[in-house]
Amino acid sequence: MDTHNYEFSSKTDKPRRAWMSRYAEFHRRSITDREAFWAEQAQLIDWQQAPKQICDYSNPPFARWYVGGTTNLCHNAVDRHLKDRADQAALIYVSTETDEEKTYSFRELHAEVQRMAASLLELGVRSGDRVLIYMPMIAEAAFAMLACARIGAIHSVVFGGFASGSLASRIEDAEPKVVVSADAGSRGGKVVAYKPLLDEAIRLSKHKPAAALLVDRGLSPMDLTAGRDHLWGPLREKHLNTPVPCEWVDATHISYTLYTSGTTGKPKGVQRDTGGYAVALAASMKYIFEGKPGETYFSTSDIGWVVGHSYIVYGPLIAGMATIMYEGLPIRPDAGIWWQLVEKYKVSRMFSAPTAVRVLKKQDPAFLKKYDLSSLKALYLAGEPLDEPTAQWISQGLGVPIIDNYWQTETGWPILTIANGVEKAPSKFGSPGVPMYGYDVKLISESTGEELTGPDQKGVVAIEGPLPPGCMQTVWRDDARFVNTYWKSIPGKLVYSTFDWGIRDKDGYFFILGRTDDVINVAGHRLGTREIEECISGHPNVAEVAVVGVADQLKGQVAMAFAVAKDASGLTSDAARLKLEGEVMKLVDSQLGAVARPSRVFFVNLLPKTRSGKLLRRALQAVAEGRDPGDLTTMDDPAALQQVRELVGAAAKP
Ligand code: PRX
Repeated sequence: MDTHNYEFSSKTDKPRRAWMSRYAEFHRRSITDREAFWAEQAQLIDWQQAPKQICDYSNPPFARWYVGGTTNLCHNAVDRHLKDRADQAALIYVSTETDEEKTYSFRELHAEVQRMAASLLELGVRSGDRVLIYMPMIAEAAFAMLACARIGAIHSVVFGGFASGSLASRIEDAEPKVVVSADAGSRGGKVVAYKPLLDEAIRLSKHKPAAALLVDRGLSPMDLTAGRDHLWGPLREKHLNTPVPCEWVDATHISYTLYTSGTTGKPKGVQRDTGGYAVALAASMKYIFEGKPGETYFSTSDIGWVVGHSYIVYGPLIAGMATIMYEGLPIRPDAGIWWQLVEKYKVSRMFSAPTAVRVLKKQDPAFLKKYDLSSLKALYLAGEPLDEPTAQWISQGLGVPIIDNYWQTETGWPILTIANGVEKAPSKFGSPGVPMYGYDVKLISESTGEELTGPDQKGVVAIEGPLPPGCMQTVWRDDARFVNTYWKSIPGKLVYSTFDWGIRDKDGYFFILGRTDDVINVAGHRLGTREIEECISGHPNVAEVAVVGVADQLKGQVAMAFAVAKDASGLTSDAARLKLEGEVMKLVDSQLGAVARPSRVFFVNLLPKTRSGKLLRRALQAVAEGRDPGDLTTMDDPAALQQVRELVGAAAKP
């Protein structure tokens, strides 16, 4: 692709070709000599019993990794390090919201996790039971995750920014025995009470958890339900010295489920194993993130997202690194806070999202120079497309490699990036890189289902089975949905679809061009437009609604809603329309959470549809972005798009 800027000019074609050979061989082996390759990687973790079979793919597309092996994620993340680094930092909790800062050594983390595990056991949790974790970014959230792993319970972390409706649907699907939560989180100095949202979610859900374990941060008063609600403080005291050994579980034992949005309104529980995940993370820390024991890793994500699971909690700890858990904004108390933490804790590897960098880019650049960042070796960015100006700005500001990486909740670790730990490689701006070892990545033509092998052809990014270790096993309690959603979307081929468009250039670098489905990406948060539509339809004066993702300079995309009112007779003034818009936004805030709130809700007379009544989503999105909607011959009434054009145009005027 000539339109992309290369970090290396054509003169340096030679080194690029040279590096390709060593990594290419590494990658080739991972695919053609899969068993031997992944047997070697299995050595990176501790096993109680060595696996008998590396990969069982006798029932595609279900892959079972490390069959017969027994291990434990918490052992690999915590206990294993007690021998060599008990007094080294393991978890560094920093909150600029409550002005707290506390470092837990591996020994202290081990103790806290056992206290949490003993408390969960007392509340009746056993191996295989689900524990839902609805928590702000505090150390106890990590204790809870690790405690579940320790006793073989399956955790399901729900992002703290979600509201009671989202939480209720996840409680219903996961059927947790216990929910771990807190009185409140805090954002930008504003306390966000969690407990009332949890109470409401439990009220809405058909499934009722037997108990709630609540961390009282003293931020917001809690009404406790007798017999159900238990405070962490006294339970922790009671179990200060209760030893809880790790339960050795099968490699294929479910470690967690994590809900993510897809095409339909109902979020999917992405289900992950134990052994494959531990090996995949350990390998990624070595080959991709190059984390060394004793160094500090700082991921700015949230434990409610997959990046938080893999690269705040499990990955860095498995690698024997200290990991920072940060509660707060990147610009508060000022835009230097992250760099201050890098200096203070000598962070060597940092992980963030392009949106956060774009936020910092709007601040005084002097903050990048204020602190000693000499410990920092690389910044990894993921979750959404990394635009070139953002990459250039941060790369120049920090003077370290910026490593874009592309993956999904489903995969748990990068699909496309560069593996500098195998071989130093150049990056190209705009491209996350090349397929990672273990991933047999293909581009498939949507129209013919054929594999596209030539350069610069646009297709669906797909992965030939088996998915490598660490990727989803299935959809929680819904194998059929796993097969039908991910593996049957390309007719005639059993291949995993990422639902992303992509192209590959002549050097084998991929470029991601956006989703093929109705998923949108707002500030790196993955949201299903159908879910937002279902919520908005619940408003008594909404007859019909369409939500689309619209390009946004800061957030990458924002959600925009176009609704038809049931009774439009009162909507004759701007004030009346704004009032209804406000009501709709409030509804989304209260049911799904502010992350899902559309940037605008426009009221239209009708939605653009085909004569057979199918919503013309792509045309609607194009017009909302001020682009040409393309072929509209199947459209029923062109006036529908004209009205959208006028409304969006008028709103864009200052
Ligand atoms: O569309 C792709 C986009 O985010 C989706 C996955 O989101 P999620 O499940 O939240 O997992 C995020 C894990 C980092 C993908 O299907 N995406 C993710 N990373 C990139 C990206 N798009 C472009 N470039 C990336 N580096």
